[in-house]
Amino acid sequence: MGSRSTPNGAVLRSPNITPDKTTGIGAWTRETFISRFKQYSDSTYTSPAINWEAGDFQTVMPWSMYTGMTQEDLGAIYDFLRTVKPVASVVERWTPPGS
Ligand code: HEM
Repeated sequence: MGSRSTPNGAVLRSPNITPDKTTGIGAWTRETFISRFKQYSDSTYTSPAINWEAGDFQTVMPWSMYTGMTQEDLGAIYDFLRTVKPVASVVERWTPPGS
């Protein structure tokens, strides 16, 4: 899998979202999946980026844009992802800079 480091040398990788039960999201229920996206719609949600320090985890996953999707659309994405072949692959999502 390809990856590219950020300007400060950290590496962010897209995780395994196939239905593999241990290394993917196969253990997630439909509700877990939908609420993972919807948590950013909660007006009490505080982004960790507010107290961000150089080297802290950052993501390009467009969570704040996708949180506006309807439960129905998110559910449809979940249903589709369940049809994908499970792949056993551990992904290290974040490697901090300098490691
Ligand atoms: C409809 C499209 C997408 C879906 C359904 C989706 C789904 C997900 C899910 C479920 C996770 C969390 C996985 C976990 O915690 O194990 C995730 C994380 C991630 N996604 Fe996406 N994603 C989408 C689009 C994208 C796009 C467009 C990008 C980048 C351009 C992206 C990059 C990432 C990255 C880097 C992570 C790991 C960091 C994090 O958890 O924020 N995704 N995605």
